[in-house]
Amino acid sequence: MGKKIFEPIEINGMTIKNRIGLAPLLNMPGLWEAFTLTDEAIKWFEARAKGGAGLIMTGAFGPLFLDNPAIFEQFAKLADTMHSYDAKIGVQIGEGGILGGIGPSPMPYPDESDPKQSQMEIIHGQISFFPGIETVTALSKEIIEGYMDKLAGYAKALKDVGVDCVELHCAHGGATLYCSFISPYYNRREDEYGGSWENRLRLPTGTIKKMRAAVGPDFPLFARISADELLGEKGITLEASQKYVVPALEAAGVDCLDVSQGSILHSPEGIQIPLYYPRGCYIHNAEAVKQVTKLPVIGVGRIVDLDMAEEFLQQGKADLIYMGRQLTSDPETPNKYLEGRTDEIRKCIGCLEGCGTPCPINYDIAPDSMPLTPAEKKKKILIIGGGVAGMEVARVCAIRGHDITLMEKKEKLGGTVAALALDPLNAEFKNFIDYLTVQMEKLNIDVKVNTDTSESDVEALSPDAVIVATGASLQGLL
Ligand SMILES: Cc1cc2nc3c(=O)[nH]c(=O)nc-3n(C[C@H](O)[C@H](O)[C@H](O)COP(=O)(O)O)c2cc1C
Repeated sequence: MGKKIFEPIEINGMTIKNRIGLAPLLNMPGLWEAFTLTDEAIKWFEARAKGGAGLIMTGAFGPLFLDNPAIFEQFAKLADTMHSYDAKIGVQIGEGGILGGIGPSPMPYPDESDPKQSQMEIIHGQISFFPGIETVTALSKEIIEGYMDKLAGYAKALKDVGVDCVELHCAHGGATLYCSFISPYYNRREDEYGGSWENRLRLPTGTIKKMRAAVGPDFPLFARISADELLGEKGITLEASQKYVVPALEAAGVDCLDVSQGSILHSPEGIQIPLYYPRGCYIHNAEAVKQVTKLPVIGVGRIVDLDMAEEFLQQGKADLIYMGRQLTSDPETPNKYLEGRTDEIRKCIGCLEGCGTPCPINYDIAPDSMPLTPAEKKKKILIIGGGVAGMEVARVCAIRGHDITLMEKKEKLGGTVAALALDPLNAEFKNFIDYLTVQMEKLNIDVKVNTDTSESDVEALSPDAVIVATGASLQGLL
């Protein structure tokens, strides 16, 4: 039986060639320096489209970026680039909420006695681009309604430059204005934008209706929700999403629901899922949404493995799978899987240290990374130490055409990272060791384990260069 993950899917007239989408990630290269979609970011997306993902969804763009008309030329370039790989391109649109200092109602949430309050203050204090924000301005009705028109205008402008769909970001609690309004935890208003579910949903549903009027009936509109805000009864619960949020968005004219979870301020573990959480641990949210809608549903959350993604699709838990960090660590994941090269997939370790700026295990976009092009002169290189640093340098040098010998004192490769991965909470670290170990074989690197390199070993080999990658000792640090 063919894999479901490689079956196309149609969403309001848009055919996506497979069921794999790049999850929206606000890590686009150069974004926070240039405040626009840079050419480097387009290249970053290009690698993901080339790697086989059927849908590329950008990270969240709001008025800060979209009020600059020049950005739409970049979106046109992005759309053309994505289409040249037969990938569809979506742009996520949203606005920052509590996190950005605006929201339905002022701080504190919900009151100073809540232990989560102090956590929020800590997070605010740490956010470098919003320094010193301690209060939240409650928006007036005029401003709220202005958002509906503004975002509808952006959707139309994106459609006009060739973007295939847009996604309204209504997820992640205080991270976004739209989720801040939906959430009973953050929304304390008493006018028609607060109180009941219908009122709290009025900003998203009103925006979708205006978007629909602006883009016409045939343009796919997605909405991302936190089906469970992970704040217990105080926040958006899964049951409330099934009963109120999903039907309201569907009635407003949404074509696809992207089901995320959590609130960035108070339950970040739902969004940027730590490595010690089980893979795919939030798929039950997509499954629950599917029970109450006929719309296509996207499942997301630490889905690293396409066998797992396939299983979720076969089980009917989702219709499409978004992968964020996995396509960051290995943009070629879909193609390698399709070609049966699963052992060559560089699986995300879930470290959250960079995620594309650059990813610690995929350094390809770093400005100082070594180009993976043939070196001018082929050299004989000895690498001493088979930890991840030694193996990575061996990989890069071998791709550049050098002749590599790697010597490791122990009986196995992996070094300190292998030791750390023995702790079940860090077991995902092993992904990188496995990937590099396979690369040593594929690249015909001469690996000598159980070899405590001596002077005579070096003399016998007579290398042009020796790289010492014997690592650091934890002794004295712990
Ligand atoms: C660095 C980073 C940036 C993110 N930016 C966004 C964003 O702009 N919009 C959004 O809806 N989700 C964002 N997310 C959440 C991801 O879309 C995704 O739901 C999450 O990373 C879980 O999927 P994964 O385990 O496949 O990465 C971000 C996550 C990370 C790690």
